[in-house]
Amino acid sequence: MLPMNNLMLVSILSSIFVVTLLSFPSPAEAVYLTHSCPNTTTFTPNSTFQSNLNRLLSTLSSNATRPSGFYNATASSSSSAPNDTVYGLFLCRGDVAATDACKTCVSTATSEAVQRCPTEKQVVIWYDDCMLRYSNESFFSTAAELPGYFMWNTQNATEPARFNQVLATGMNDVVTEAANDADKFATSQRNFSGLVSIYSLGQCTQDLSSADCNRCLTGAKAQFPTCCNGKLGGRVLYPSCTVRYEVYPFYLQNSTSAPQPSPGALPPPPPPLPRKGKSKIPTIVAIVVPIAVSVLLFVVGCCFITRRARKKRSAAAEAPSGENDISTIESLQFDFSTIVAATNNFSDENKLGEGGFGQVYKGILSNGQEVAVKRLSRNSGQGAEEFKNEIVLVAKLQHRNLVRLYGFCLEGEEKILVYEYVSNKSLDYFLFDPEKQGQLDWSIRYKIIAGIARGIMYLHEDSQLRIIHRDLKASNILLDGEMHPKISDFGMARIFGVDQTQANTSRIVGTYGYMSPEYAMHGQFSVKSDLYSFGVLLLEIISGKKNSYFFQTDAAEDLMSHAWKLWRDGTPLELLDPSMRDSYSRSEVIRCIHIGLLCVQEDPADRPTMQSVVLMLNSYSVTLPLPEQPAFFLRSRTEGNMPKITLESDLSISKSTPSVDEASITAVYPR
Ligand SMILES: *[C@@H]1O[C@H](CO)[C@@H](O)[C@H](O)[C@H]1NC(C)=O
Ligand SMILES: *[C@@H]1O[C@H](CO)[C@@H](O)[C@H](O)[C@H]1NC(C)=O
Ligand SMILES: *[C@@H]1O[C@H](CO)[C@@H](O)[C@H](O)[C@H]1NC(C)=O
Ligand SMILES: *[C@@H]1O[C@H](CO)[C@@H](O)[C@H](O)[C@H]1NC(C)=O
Ligand SMILES: *[C@@H]1O[C@H](CO)[C@@H](O)[C@H](O)[C@H]1NC(C)=O
Ligand SMILES: *[C@@H]1O[C@H](CO)[C@@H](O)[C@H](O)[C@H]1NC(C)=O
Ligand SMILES: *[C@@H]1O[C@H](CO)[C@@H](O)[C@H](O)[C@H]1NC(C)=O
Ligand SMILES: *[C@@H]1O[C@H](CO)[C@@H](O)[C@H](O)[C@H]1NC(C)=O
Ligand SMILES: *[C@@H]1O[C@H](CO)[C@@H](O)[C@H](O)[C@H]1NC(C)=O
Repeated sequence: MLPMNNLMLVSILSSIFVVTLLSFPSPAEAVYLTHSCPNTTTFTPNSTFQSNLNRLLSTLSSNATRPSGFYNATASSSSSAPNDTVYGLFLCRGDVAATDACKTCVSTATSEAVQRCPTEKQVVIWYDDCMLRYSNESFFSTAAELPGYFMWNTQNATEPARFNQVLATGMNDVVTEAANDADKFATSQRNFSGLVSIYSLGQCTQDLSSADCNRCLTGAKAQFPTCCNGKLGGRVLYPSCTVRYEVYPFYLQNSTSAPQPSPGALPPPPPPLPRKGKSKIPTIVAIVVPIAVSVLLFVVGCCFITRRARKKRSAAAEAPSGENDISTIESLQFDFSTIVAATNNFSDENKLGEGGFGQVYKGILSNGQEVAVKRLSRNSGQGAEEFKNEIVLVAKLQHRNLVRLYGFCLEGEEKILVYEYVSNKSLDYFLFDPEKQGQLDWSIRYKIIAGIARGIMYLHEDSQLRIIHRDLKASNILLDGEMHPKISDFGMARIFGVDQTQANTSRIVGTYGYMSPEYAMHGQFSVKSDLYSFGVLLLEIISGKKNSYFFQTDAAEDLMSHAWKLWRDGTPLELLDPSMRDSYSRSEVIRCIHIGLLCVQEDPADRPTMQSVVLMLNSYSVTLPLPEQPAFFLRSRTEGNMPKITLESDLSISKSTPSVDEASITAVYPR
């Protein structure tokens, strides 16, 4: 274990952000980054210290909705010795303060910290949306830079010198602004080129003074040349402050000044960036939990008149014969009273889950038909007519591997979608549960893979509209009584007014671990981004392991890299979920792994189309190309055996020498 006074370096892919935006019944999840808890200071289980710690964690957790997004607390009891006192704090990222994302993150952190560090006294754990720290020693009002972690994006900037310069100016503003901010948080957006902006963020725990915050951030920022020289994204995580930059907006922007995504990839409007939108957009934030898709919604909200006009034209052009007339709409419309009756007035017993766009209930119509009712959050930023038009189009998408949209209900502020009810929960429920994954034998998994491929092919190629799903993942695959897969949540971008045809989005919609690199890095999506997600899903189905699982354990690589290595070494079958080692078709499994690896290739042009995937799955005579190494090659945690990088110092970002023993910083390049 590394001692506290050693700066440790973890290299994890930096583009980490979760979005449960389009997820059907899965609740928002906090994205774990890393943690530190040296085992040199431990307490005895069931001691006074432990009970104080438990009280501290529940106090913190219950205060997670504070407007500041920060809370510090001390737990001791009159009877306990002074050495049993526990000090702790949490800090949410400034833009999500006082939202559900913050609350979810803090409650995840308080429960995971004690799982990861069951008896350690001094713990720091970082998530995308928050961090939690506790210790037996008082650390309030003291800036701590150890233990520190780096994360970076593996992609290089095109003009590193200028990139670093632009980054440095943005970062300097952030440091000054955050240090002087009441909530010790600031963001900045700087134009790098017509198409690319650098977004940066800095934040200190709110117990620090301005001077200490400034010192901490300056120290953190000074690590960028060490960790992230010329990379498209980077982060430094310290216990008392964090800095981060990316080439996409990873924090919630002030709605009104967010650049509008432009289909023609025109330069974005000048970036007068908004510090934080939290007081401006509380409702949206609370709904679209963890990530700022709200920005898009707002943009849509404020600009939808023009965009709608444009879109309506294209929708009309795409619709079979423009016959989305009133009668069609009416046939899809449900009365609010019908919905209320069907769901027992949205009772908790009927609740199936909660997605980013609202809650999902089971309903039974008066004729006995079962339905799933998705009650959309009220502030979707979508006008009634547009909403109806999109519903008509999406309801026309019918395929046995798609969850069918039966209709909608619009009443006052209520917007409700009524879907086919699928009986067996979602794929992740079975696939990632050690007790249930045994129910998925190879023939079922193969059937699921083929079904998903056909459903997506329909969305991409065969339907009247070309729909890019954009959030394909295990929890969006529902299973019916016969374990046939049905894809859910397609077309949500359409229903929510995100133009499908645009090549760039200012907000990433998708789920970390499934997003293609071009989408994650540049917000560019195409049918090939879905292919990437499909590839990840395929490898998950074969291995029975979550891709994100690989990021959350000490595993030195992600699922794709793991699969690729096994493939390269001629042992692909080792990827197979051990729970079905006995009954499977060797050639089918190998073929599926092969297809999965073809889909996760970095260059979208190298990935097959869904049509060719379906062909490959159905025909044994098709010869497949060899897969290239997958896009995201997760780099390993540092151990002594990794090659060292020599640090370049031709950077303008900061002249200060990193306060780090350079020899302790190691990293590996992707091979
Ligand atoms: C602490 O961790 C190190 C390395 O992880 C291990 O070698 C050592 O045995 C652990 N010590 C205790 C007391 O658990
Ligand atoms: C701590 O208490 C729990 C129940 O309160 C018990 O299950 C556990 O065995 C105890 N652990 C120790 C080490 O005493
Ligand atoms: C917040 O913390 C205080 C103590 O610091 C505690 O009394 C209170 O119950 C906590 N929860 C809420 C919701 O305020
Ligand atoms: C929170 O931190 C401040 C110092 O920044 C300290 O004065 C205060 O006592 C702490 N609050 C609690 C409840 O420990
Ligand atoms: C915290 O725990 C460590 C290790 O158990 C101990 O050396 C240190 O004195 C403790 N600090 C306080 C303030 O009790
Ligand atoms: C606190 O000190 C007492 C004796 O001084 C000791 O018995 C107890 O284990 C210590 N607690 C912790 C958490 O170190
Ligand atoms: C980034 O640049 C470095 C050299 O500066 C090179 O070794 C590395 O392969 C590049 N990485 C990528 C992903 O292009
Ligand atoms: C961004 O910078 C590029 C060149 O660096 C320039 O051509 C472009 O006009 C700038 N765009 C804005 C919106 O400032
Ligand atoms: C942020 O948005 C509000 C409207 O919601 C607007 O009045 C304000 O000027 C914006 N702030 C900045 C810095 O653009």
